[in-house]
Parts: sequence; structure tokens; C-alpha cells
Amino acid sequence: MKILVIGSGGREHALVWKLAQSPHVTQMWCAPGNAGIAQERLAQNGAPVECVQIGAEDLPKVLAFAQTQKVDFTIVGPDNPLALGIVDLFQQHGLKIWGVNRKAAQFESSKVFSQKFMEKYGIPTAAAGTFADVAAAKRFAATLDGKCVVKANGLALGKGVLICANQAEAERAVDEIMVGKAFGVAGANVVIQEFLDGIEISLHALCDGVTARIFPTSQDHKRALDADQGLNTGGMGTYSPTPFLDGAQLAATARLVLEPFMRGCVAEGIDYRGLLYPGVMLTKNGPKILEFNARFGDPETQVYLTRLESDLLELLAASASGTLSQHELKWSPLASVCVVMASGGYPGNYAKGKLISGLDAANAQPYTKVFHAGTTRAGDDIVTSGGRVLGVTALGQDLRAAQAAAYAAVDKIYFEGAHFRRDIAAKAMS
Ligand code: AMP
Ligand code: GLY
Repeated sequence: MKILVIGSGGREHALVWKLAQSPHVTQMWCAPGNAGIAQERLAQNGAPVECVQIGAEDLPKVLAFAQTQKVDFTIVGPDNPLALGIVDLFQQHGLKIWGVNRKAAQFESSKVFSQKFMEKYGIPTAAAGTFADVAAAKRFAATLDGKCVVKANGLALGKGVLICANQAEAERAVDEIMVGKAFGVAGANVVIQEFLDGIEISLHALCDGVTARIFPTSQDHKRALDADQGLNTGGMGTYSPTPFLDGAQLAATARLVLEPFMRGCVAEGIDYRGLLYPGVMLTKNGPKILEFNARFGDPETQVYLTRLESDLLELLAASASGTLSQHELKWSPLASVCVVMASGGYPGNYAKGKLISGLDAANAQPYTKVFHAGTTRAGDDIVTSGGRVLGVTALGQDLRAAQAAAYAAVDKIYFEGAHFRRDIAAKAMS
């Protein structure tokens, strides 16, 4: 099969790396890809994966490429092309594609939509209200004593969520989002949730419109600095599994969340084929869903796919064709840890073009894979080209061993200004 992967981050490198191991794949492209993706080769015939210079959001060009090259199956990584309707477009042209359609992508592109859906179908979530009116939003925040989280409705590059400790902060947050339009039209409506205390984890489930198959648990580290200090980022590292839910508790959570989710989708005429990634807070009153994403997490994908033993292409094809009930997901018992190495200054301003050394030495370490995100080629060199640069991922007998291996690999890699957390997976061991 000829495969096209859309996207350019660490998530897409992990997808490409895993798909390249499938005996079904005879040719693979990635649009636009990165320097690490361009180094991958197919297990079937040794052919290199080819990066093509088409942006993930340039839907007409991606479609034309898939038609010209007679691509058999396209796999979409990022949220933006999904929200723009890339899946609907390909299907209109009779092309096979994996990812959620535009209607299903609303679970991520509209927090108001998700919140109302969760309430309607009894999915456990925070006490919340949705508002288009400033005064009503402030009155609701007051009923929570201002201890709340104010969220812009639309996509805001992960920045449209403001955590408030008192009413003055809540009113400032409402004004910033709804009046000051800090996130543009994304803030015309807001969701206000009660502030929930607990341990936050990531769940992933592969869905085919009827069946949902839950993954093991993982945990991201969103803040830039150790001990969850500093600014919010796209994610500075992950590990899987987490010790916070055992098998029975994960199965119970899946029943509590995925059964009403799939039932609600059918009732609302939403054909949910793709990945569902709920952000979950484990509170003393049980798990509560904070938000839904409609795609693989980044860097959750890096730890999941290093543990996945099943053929990813077969699973994604089953998700797209509605035959997932015939498939099981098989996971390695090993633990996986991914440490993100970012450019100095990220998530603020940062320089690009820094020479990266030590990649071969890190990759030569057993059970270790360096996934690229913001990297590009400069002649024979690989240089930085983005905020998150690498996802250094290692497997181990347990989390402690995986963590030690991931950091041993990180210590072999150098670029000027490299910035990473030293405490990825530490919460699981304390
Ligand atoms: P979201 O994009 O909705 O997941 O929010 C971004 C981050 O804000 C989450 O990863 C949580 O760390 C935090 N957060 C969101 N909602 C809540 C809540 N109701 N209570 C506490 N923290 C929250
Ligand atoms: N791990 C954070 C995200 O993918 O949104």
C-alpha cells in the first residue's frame, strides 16, 4: 500500500516510524515531514520515506498530491487539517483517509460543544456553564467563589485556558477573553468549569464509529520547568503506563466515558472514526473529563507507539472502515518515557538553525528512539527549526529503567540552548 502521513511533529515521526514497520506498506510520503522522518525506511522493501513540501493545512495541494500519486491511504496527525475538513474532502473524492471528519472534530475545535455534549450524555466532567454573555459568565464564576477555569471556546494554540483562584481573577479572565478578545473569535463564547484538584492523565481511544478501544494510561508534563513550574507548553514529556489507574479502574473509566460518548455520537449523527483523546482529572470524586481532543497527543504518541505491538496500519484501516471490533490492541509490558528537548526560550521566542549533534550515539542505545519534531536539514547537518525539537524516547523493564535510559540518551545529544525537564515520570515514583 502507498501511504501519505500529514504533519511535521514528533507525533508524526512516531506515526511514520511505526507505520514503516508494517509489511503492508510499500511506499510512504509525509507532508511536510521533518529531518528525522526523512531518515526512516520501510521494513517491507527498504525504500526511504519521502518528505514532500506541502503544508498540512494546504488541503487542495494535499488532495492533488494524493490523487497524482494514487495514494491508497492517508493518515492525518494534527488537529487543524481535521477541523478544516480534510477527511470530508478526501472522502468526497473517493480517497481513503484516517482521522475524524469535520463534525467529529468539533469535540476539539469547540469547548462549548464538548461541554454540552458531556452534560447531555452523562459523561463525568467538571461542574460548568457555557456563556456568550459577559455578565452571566461573571455571575456564574461568583457561584464558584471565583475558583474556576475560564476557557475560550475555539482553538487557541493551547493558550485559551485561564486558571483563576478568586472572583477578581475570574472577572479579569472573562474580560480578557470575551471583551479584550485575547484569542480573537475563539473567545466569543466561553466555558467556565469549577477548578478540580487531582492528578491529570491522558487517555486515548481508537474509534470506528461504534467500537472504541482504550489505550493504556499516559501522563504529559505541560509546564516548561521542573516541578510543574513555568509557562504552559505543548508538552515537555510523557510516560506510559501511569501507576494512577490499575487495569480494573481503567476499564471502569472507559465504560464511564467511552460508552456514553459513542452512544451520544450515534444519537447526534456524528460518525466518530479516529482517535479520541480525553484529558482527565482523577479527583477524590472519581475521574472527570476536562476536555476532548480529536487526534493523537504529542508527545503521548511517542510513548504509545513504542509500546504498541500490533500493526498500526491494520488498526487505523479498521478504524476508518468500521471493523475495529475484529481487532485487539496488543501492548508491550515494558514502560516508555519520552523526554522533549526544546529550543532555549520555548515556549517564548527562540533561535533556530542550531546544529544538533549526538543523534546517532543516542539512537544506537538499545530500546531507544529519538523522534524528531522541529528539525531540518542544512547540507549534511541536522539543525533546529522549531520550539520542540526532539522527543527522546526509551523503553525499560519499569518506569525507573525507562527514565534512566531516556536521560542517558538525552545526555548524548547537544545543541546550543537545549532545554528539557529533568523530572519526566518522577511523579509516578514519588
Ligand atoms: P484544557 O485545554 O481544557 O485541557 O486545559 C488546559 C489545562 O488546564 C489542562 O491540561 C489542566 O491542567 C488545566 N485545567 C483545565 N480544566 C481544568 C479544571 N476544571 N480544573 C483544574 N485544571 C484544569
Ligand atoms: N499532549 C498535549 C496535546 O497533544 O495536546
